[in-house]
Amino acid sequence: MEIKVVQDAKSIESDILVVNKFEDENTTNELANKYAVEQDNFKGKFGETYLLPTYGQEVYRKVLVLGLGKRNEFNPNKMREAVAKAIKKCVQMEAKKVAFSLDGIEFDYSEQFTMGAFIADYTFDKYKSEKKEKVQEVYVQANADIVKKAEKIAAAMTFARNLANEPAQFATPTELANIACDLGLDTKIYNKDECERMGMGAFLAVSRGSAQEPKFIHMKYQVDNPKKKIAIIGKGITFDSGGLDIKPPSSMLTMKDDMSAAACVLGVMSILREFHPQVEVHGIIAACENMPGCSAYKPGDILTAMNGKTIEVDNTDAEGRLTLADALCYACELGVDEVIDLATLTGACMVALGTNAAGIMGNDENFVKTLIDTAERNGERYWELPLWEEYFDSLKSDIADMKNTGARWGGASIAGVFLQKFVKDVKWAHIDIAGTAFLDKPQKEFIKGATGAGVRTLLHYILEQ
Ligand code: BES
Ligand code: MN
Ligand code: ZN
Repeated sequence: MEIKVVQDAKSIESDILVVNKFEDENTTNELANKYAVEQDNFKGKFGETYLLPTYGQEVYRKVLVLGLGKRNEFNPNKMREAVAKAIKKCVQMEAKKVAFSLDGIEFDYSEQFTMGAFIADYTFDKYKSEKKEKVQEVYVQANADIVKKAEKIAAAMTFARNLANEPAQFATPTELANIACDLGLDTKIYNKDECERMGMGAFLAVSRGSAQEPKFIHMKYQVDNPKKKIAIIGKGITFDSGGLDIKPPSSMLTMKDDMSAAACVLGVMSILREFHPQVEVHGIIAACENMPGCSAYKPGDILTAMNGKTIEVDNTDAEGRLTLADALCYACELGVDEVIDLATLTGACMVALGTNAAGIMGNDENFVKTLIDTAERNGERYWELPLWEEYFDSLKSDIADMKNTGARWGGASIAGVFLQKFVKDVKWAHIDIAGTAFLDKPQKEFIKGATGAGVRTLLHYILEQ
């Protein structure tokens, strides 16, 4: 799909001309007013559409009236959703050329328009013999520079979604490392022996039950005199079987998605050079599988993380926090100002917040607030969960510094305080995207599957420094 900025969308030869309609207002299109509004009483409730043919009387073959709901309730996030609705309708109609004539919208919709169009046009059909036809050209009156910027962010999202949708048989730790190396950044891949020498006993333990080699990935985006140094860490479990504490089939079914956060970090890193922000960004992924092979780590084992802390394995299915423990230790040694980790970490977070919001925790109020606000402005939702010290009570171990799991209740916060034990002298935020990264049914502008969670927020956060 290509978005073309034009002066007058309704003068373009197209399969469909999309015109917007607010409730209790007319459109700027005569046909739409006459047939949809007057004759058929089309209200224009948010997300409603009405299609009418033009029988060769116009340069556009059909008009799609797009309901935007009440004007005073309309906002950029709704804009994105509405555009996505229209694009999906156009795909259904097998339209190739679509023009948008959007009038009377009181804010610059260029960015959310672009995001909505690209998110909705996404399919994952590389393994289908028959591919669905998509919209090829979209014409719109918008700000060309903002459209260009949003196209890049959308491309990073698509990159992340493709990677997270990829089956675990292909998206292996080695494959993630290869992809990282191909991004044209200064990238170092640590193999198993090197990780061992660095003392990453928690990460390596998780990897032991798998035939796939673990890879610790460190990508660097560097500039002269950076305003700030940020590390972003993505959980990179390329498949989570649960390990010896094996998951039931229904829970394992989508566990190729347990590297969605790694896909997000790769997506963000993939596009940074095109934006050349004046911040140093480190992308870090401890990539491995969690499998119950004959060398697998076992409940009761004691692991030593990179910072020397010892962990008693209480449950091998709480593997993400173990890999992140070493990744956090590593990141904290880079001399960065801020560390953000993202992870499909706990079912508990999904239970608490559902699939529309990610949980966020951190050690600096303003930092967390800024991230929540950045998410909100860019179509994601983050909700803060507490890191009270009481959450550590159930992680106390009789024989080690801590256990990797504790009480069932408050599981997202318990995981958060576990991670905090591996954070030293930096501003840190942890974002649990277990609920938002991968959908089992369509939601808003997204189809089933990977959503590219985190990409928009992290990119905007970096670009706004
Ligand atoms: N990858 C899972 C968390 C998850 C669950 C992500 C559902 C997406 C959807 C994680 O490794 C896990 O297994 N967590 C356990 C932790 C438990 C053993 C304390 C969980 O949430 O059940
Ligand atoms: Mn697990
Ligand atoms: Zn996991």
